[in-house]
Amino acid sequence: MYDRGTLGHRFKLLLSLPPLITNKDNIMINGSKPLAHPIRWSMVGGGSLSQIGYSHRSAALRDHCFTLVAGAFDLDTQRGRTFGAQLGVNPDRCYPDYLSLFEEEARRADGIQAVTVATPNGTHFAITKAALEAGLHVVCEKPLCFTVQQAHHLRDLARERRRVVGLAYGYAGHQMICICASRWPWTPQTGVWPRPCPIPT
Ligand SMILES: NC(=O)c1ccc[n+]([C@@H]2O[C@H](COP(=O)([O-])OP(=O)(O)OC[C@H]3O[C@@H](n4cnc5c(N)ncnc54)[C@H](O)[C@@H]3O)[C@@H](O)[C@H]2O)c1
Repeated sequence: MYDRGTLGHRFKLLLSLPPLITNKDNIMINGSKPLAHPIRWSMVGGGSLSQIGYSHRSAALRDHCFTLVAGAFDLDTQRGRTFGAQLGVNPDRCYPDYLSLFEEEARRADGIQAVTVATPNGTHFAITKAALEAGLHVVCEKPLCFTVQQAHHLRDLARERRRVVGLAYGYAGHQMICICASRWPWTPQTGVWPRPCPIPT
């Protein structure tokens, strides 16, 4: 059994210690410094009521490689603006929709360099396409699009604009999936898993 009192005391002690690494040098938790300046980052979707927005922010911001400077966070403009402000984004840079976000930010010398698309599935293709056309790097939630033709279009656009499109398949890195995939690889010939994938012991 845990001694709650002792744990609470240790936690308070931990909080009172000075941080080992401070934000000002943009040093990652592993001690490396891959970027001189954090990437100026924005989000489409991922608003206050969304499920996945928090995961993107906690992953992107913890290592100081990204700084959240703008967004079209929500279908509801006012809710998106209030939420953006709570996240420390200038309310003037909380836009009502993704087209305004890309257009207005392109006019700024300190405009966004990358965007995360965390909206419902049916919107991903159009938003990613518009982002690439605006010269942005993209991290898109799965699925990227619905057809192979759309995927080829985005691939060609990204190559042409020399931009990166990253896709968030969060569970692809889950230990159980990795173990199953290494033991029972998917076969492109059949397109199915050769046998049921039991929980590894
Ligand atoms: N990788 C994973 O493990 C994982 C897990 C959950 C969800 N997802 C994916 O993430 C995406 C979002 O899922 P969710 O559950 O967070 O959705 P959600 O419906 O909970 O939230 C969507 C958010 O996007 C906003 N939004 C919707 N349309 C918009 C638009 N056109 N412009 C700006 N904002 C808009 C909404 O206001 C809301 O804040 C989906 O594509 C889903 O498949 C992935």
